Amino acid sequence: MGPIVLTALVLLLAAQEGSADRIQNRRTRRELASPLHAGGIRDPYGSYCHRRGGCCPGRDDLCTVPYLDTICYCDLFCNRTVSDCCPDFWNRCLGVPPPFIDVCERNGNKFYTGQTYKENCNLCTCGSSGRWECEQNACLIEPDVINAVNRGNYGWKAANYSQLYGLTLDEGIRFRLGTKKPSSTIMNMNEIQMNMDPLNDRLPLYFNSLEKWPGKIHEPLDQGNCAASWAFSTAAVASDRISIQSMGHMTPQLSPQNLISCDTRNQGGCAGGRVDGAWWYLRRRGVVTDDCYPYQPPQQTPAEVGRCMMQSRSVGRGKRQATQRCPNTQNYHNDIYQSTPPYRLSSNEKEIMKEIMDNGPVQAIMEVHEDFFVYKSGIYKHTDVSFAKPPKYRKHGTHSVRILGWGEDRDYNGTPRKYWIAANSWGKNWGENGYFRITRGENECEIEAFVIGVWGRITMEDMQHHHHRRRHI
Ligand SMILES: *[C@@H]1O[C@H](CO)[C@@H](O)[C@H](O)[C@H]1NC(C)=O
Ligand SMILES: *[C@@H]1O[C@H](CO)[C@@H](O)[C@H](O)[C@H]1NC(C)=O
Repeated sequence: MGPIVLTALVLLLAAQEGSADRIQNRRTRRELASPLHAGGIRDPYGSYCHRRGGCCPGRDDLCTVPYLDTICYCDLFCNRTVSDCCPDFWNRCLGVPPPFIDVCERNGNKFYTGQTYKENCNLCTCGSSGRWECEQNACLIEPDVINAVNRGNYGWKAANYSQLYGLTLDEGIRFRLGTKKPSSTIMNMNEIQMNMDPLNDRLPLYFNSLEKWPGKIHEPLDQGNCAASWAFSTAAVASDRISIQSMGHMTPQLSPQNLISCDTRNQGGCAGGRVDGAWWYLRRRGVVTDDCYPYQPPQQTPAEVGRCMMQSRSVGRGKRQATQRCPNTQNYHNDIYQSTPPYRLSSNEKEIMKEIMDNGPVQAIMEVHEDFFVYKSGIYKHTDVSFAKPPKYRKHGTHSVRILGWGEDRDYNGTPRKYWIAANSWGKNWGENGYFRITRGENECEIEAFVIGVWGRITMEDMQHHHHRRRHI
C-alpha cells in the first residue's frame, strides 16, 4: 500500500469517527466465520462502506453493513485471512481493486480458495494459486490394492466396501479390530494335552460346524466402528458352544454389548480389550442374550460406550441371576449365561481341527493386515501388493475371530490349498456372507498361535428349565 493510499485512508477513517449508524448485528466468533467471498464476490458493484459513510481503523466488530442475508465489514481486520469485507471495501477503504479469488477446477466445476472436497479418506482444499492441496493419508480402501489383488493369482478376490470407504488405514485399524495381544503370562498358558490317535481320529478333508450343528451356529455380527472384536468373538464362540453342548435346548445369541459396557476392568470397550478378561467375565459374572441387551453401534468415532445396564448376583453353586431387567424392555428373558474357564489349544493344525469337530467353533487371535479389509472371496493369504509402498500403507493390528471349520481345494496349478473357515464381525455383506477362508497349516497372520476353546456352564436342570419354557411359550 502506497503512502498516498494510506493518507487517503487515514483521512477517510478520521472523517467517520463517532459515526452514529453502527450496526449492532455482531457476528460471533468472527475469525471462524465463513468467508463471504469464498464463492466469488456476489455483489461487486454495491456501495456498502460508502453508504455506511466510511471505513474503520484496525479491528472494529461493529463496523458492519447489512449485506444480502448477512453482514459485511468495513474495518481493516476483514482484510486479513477471512475476506468478509464489504464488496466495495478495497476500492473505498484501500483504493485498490478487489483481490482476485483463485479458482480450482474439478470435473469441469469451479471451486474457490478455501473450498474443499473429500477424495476417499483425504480432504482436498482449493489453495491460493488455484491448486488443490490434498491430505496424503493411506486409505483403508485403496483402489490400486483391489486391482492388484484381483489381477494377481493370489487365490482370493478383493472388493470395495462402502462401510469402509473413506476411512484412513489408521482409522480402520483403530475402529474395526479391537483385540489386545494377550499378555505373556497368558500367551504362555499351558496348552491342553490332546492325545491324537492316528487311526481313530481321522479328520475329513472338509468340515463345517454349520453343517454338523444346524441351527446351533450363530451368524456373523457387525461390530461397526467399535473396536471390540474381543467381545464379539468371545460372545460368538460362547453362544455356539452353549447351543451345541445343550443339544439345542438353549441357543442364546450372547450379548457383546453386555461385555463391552460391563466388563470394564482393564478393558477398553470400543477401544480394544483382552479375550482372557472377556472369558473371566463370562465365567464369573455371565451375560444375557443380545436380544435382552442389544448392541448399540456407535454413532461417532471414537466410540462412546454406554454405562453398564446389567448386573448379576450369585444364587449358589456358582450360578448367577440377573438383578436388572433387560435393557430391551420388550424382552423378559434376562437369564444369565456363563462359561467354564477357557482352555488353550496347541498350535497344531490337527489338534485345532479335532477340537472343532468334537466340540464346536473356537476363538482365534489373528493379525489383520491392510489387504484383509478388502477381502471378498477365496482363500486369504496376506499379499505383497503394498510391499513397495511407503510404510504408512503397510499396517496391521490384532483382531479375534471364530473358526468353525476347514477344507481343501486346488489352485489354478492344481496345487492343493488348505484353509480354515472363519467368521468375522464386520457384517454379512463383508467377505463370503460375513465369513472368510484363510490359509491353514502355516500360521497365516498368526491365526494358529493362540486358539481358545470353552465349555458353557450347563446343568441338567438348565436343560429341563429351558426345554419347558420353550414348550409353553
Ligand atoms: C488488503 O488486501 C489487498 C488485496 O489482497 C492487499 O494488497 C493489501 O495489502 C491488504 N491490506 C492490508 C492492510 O492487509
Ligand atoms: C467404493 O465405494 C464408494 C462408496 O460406495 C464409492 O464412492 C467409491 O467410488 C468406490 N471406489 C471404488 C474404487 O470403486
